[in-house]
Amino acid sequence: MRNLNADNITDAVINEFSGCQDERLKTILNSLVTHLHAFLREVKPSEEEWTQAIDFLTRTGQMCDDKRQEFILLSDTLGVTMLVDALNHQTSDPMVSESTVLGPFYVADPPQVAQGEAIDWGVEGEPLYVEGRVHNELGEPLANVVIDVWQSDSEGFYDVQKELDSASLRARFTTDDQGRYAFWSVTPSPYPIPTDGPVGKMLEITGRHPYRPAHVHFMLMAKGYETLVTQVFAEDDPYLDSDAVFGVKDSLVRDYRLMPPGPAPDGRTLESSYRHLKYDFGLKKAS
Ligand code: BEZ
Ligand code: FE
Repeated sequence: MRNLNADNITDAVINEFSGCQDERLKTILNSLVTHLHAFLREVKPSEEEWTQAIDFLTRTGQMCDDKRQEFILLSDTLGVTMLVDALNHQTSDPMVSESTVLGPFYVADPPQVAQGEAIDWGVEGEPLYVEGRVHNELGEPLANVVIDVWQSDSEGFYDVQKELDSASLRARFTTDDQGRYAFWSVTPSPYPIPTDGPVGKMLEITGRHPYRPAHVHFMLMAKGYETLVTQVFAEDDPYLDSDAVFGVKDSLVRDYRLMPPGPAPDGRTLESSYRHLKYDFGLKKAS
């Protein structure tokens, strides 16, 4: 293995992995080297450009800690997260809900809240009533499904970004025997993904905006079913067709319907106008 050049170095590197006992790892590394080398042959970076690329990745790593994951943001903004999602959760069954990106603001084990309660602790905004059912592929209701929800406030901030002492606009519900869930919240707004790191710089110098359309996140977990990680987007949002992380699917867009003051679906009377979002989720049996 000497005198390597642009034509034979790829095979030489792949050959070095030939002793790898883990067949899956060997396949992944062979493909990575093949495609990475092909990319470089196509782009022909100058040494200065390559140094810039290493510097970008270094800064991306340096931006990460237990609260901030800049590499996931890079994956999101390059469409990689949604490609991995598409490769793993392809479904053509209209009875199964589509998934989308998890995002960085999920916190495990949120406060458990009773059906129909409000989760807008310590925040103000236009009231939003969210309700729906969870069913299986046959449309039969699923009871005892654990649903974690999380969302931004009406200014576009998650509780973890505001460093509140306790959770807000995130909670865990359990479906009743008819598969129903319901809660009161506030209407979320579109918001920019974090732009104070190298990913924000990449968006800026490439002329891309950092916004995500308004949405509520859901994670549904039920024994014997695939966990569903998804979001429901607001139908009138200006960013639906330019989501910074490519996460919008038609089946996940709904009317956050503006309702006049008066009796709400759960029997309460509201003195102000509010919004009403209805969304039913279909879960797929685990294979
Ligand atoms: C979110 O929806 O919370 C999100 C997703 C990807 C990147 C940043 C934020
Ligand atoms: Fe979000």
